[in-house]
Amino acid sequence: MFWSNTLVEKLNIRYPVIQAPMFGVSTPEMTASASKVGCLGTLALADLSAEQSVELIKATKELADQPFAVNIFTHNIPPITDSIRQKYIKTKNFIEELAAENNLEVSLPDLEDLKVNTYHEQIDAIIEEGCKILSFTFGNLDDNSIQKLKENGITLIGTCTSVEEALILEKSGIDIICVQGIEAGGHRGTFDGDRIPQIGGLSLLSQVFDHVKVPLIYAGGIYNGRTLSAANELGAKGFQVGSILLASQESALQSFEKERLKKVKEDEILLTRSFSGRYARGIRNRFIEALENSDYILPYPYQNKLTGILRKTAKLNGNVEFVNIWLGQSVHPYSEASTMDILKRLILDVEKIS
Ligand SMILES: Cc1cc2nc3c(=O)[nH]c(=O)nc-3n(C[C@H](O)[C@H](O)[C@H](O)COP(=O)(O)O)c2cc1C
Repeated sequence: MFWSNTLVEKLNIRYPVIQAPMFGVSTPEMTASASKVGCLGTLALADLSAEQSVELIKATKELADQPFAVNIFTHNIPPITDSIRQKYIKTKNFIEELAAENNLEVSLPDLEDLKVNTYHEQIDAIIEEGCKILSFTFGNLDDNSIQKLKENGITLIGTCTSVEEALILEKSGIDIICVQGIEAGGHRGTFDGDRIPQIGGLSLLSQVFDHVKVPLIYAGGIYNGRTLSAANELGAKGFQVGSILLASQESALQSFEKERLKKVKEDEILLTRSFSGRYARGIRNRFIEALENSDYILPYPYQNKLTGILRKTAKLNGNVEFVNIWLGQSVHPYSEASTMDILKRLILDVEKIS
């Protein structure tokens, strides 16, 4: 059996299966449930403030007695230019009108009212809270942060979507690389949000394996024993799963979103920048159709912040046409069992066939 490997030792876990951080969907309960199986649970902190991050870390510590990872966004924040200012006003008006036409009354924030956080304040909070594993996406950490985190004994996991990004992460001393295939649900971890290396998992994992020496985690499309074993065959030591947990008991998705998920057809899953300004994979709906290929998409994080209240209101109204439901390409029945049971079943499935 390939469970016991360098990654399991490095992370002090029993199975090298990682519950993917899924901001907005994963919860402290999901993270704790994954850790209880002996997998690595991951708490998604995205670009929350230091105070919000500490609150979630504390809540997870209360529930989990096993190690868990925390996950942050390491994007650059583009300066606000006149052109962004003008585009913001136009986009805000367009989206408010679109929502009103669809019976959703929302008043979106002005650009000046947005609270945009950098990850640096989270780093200190993560160190102070004694977290031992940090994964990140949307770019690399800066050198000072890497040094500070390493001095505090924190294991670092960076995300890549190309060989070029993997080489950058390895060169800067990142301990483990999560290779994200194009199949993956949610945001692409690509360093440059405007670009989109569309490399399938099979090609990417095998090539990254040939080019770097650090242990690899694979993420994207794993939903049963065969897909996980294929990633193992291609050189992965860890297996990160997101979409198989979307409908789990601990998921923050509402029942109307879970219902939509269960009806999804393969040609409804697409990559879109419309909700956040960065490419993410999810289910096509009216909002995406209206925005995609339009002039109403601001760079991340501005688009993301602008559409936040719209998405919240749509969630409260059970309106499937204006929420973002992220998911990967591997369509399956989306079990509503507990995270623990879904992960146990995956592990058994792997053991049955290997
Ligand atoms: C709803 C959702 C939210 C996600 N949010 C994050 C996140 O906050 N941080 C992150 O590094 N990756 C995030 N991802 C990507 C996952 O870490 C992982 O790459 C992906 O789920 C793997 O593909 P799969 O969904 O086919 O299992 C998210 C994925 C989904 C489905």
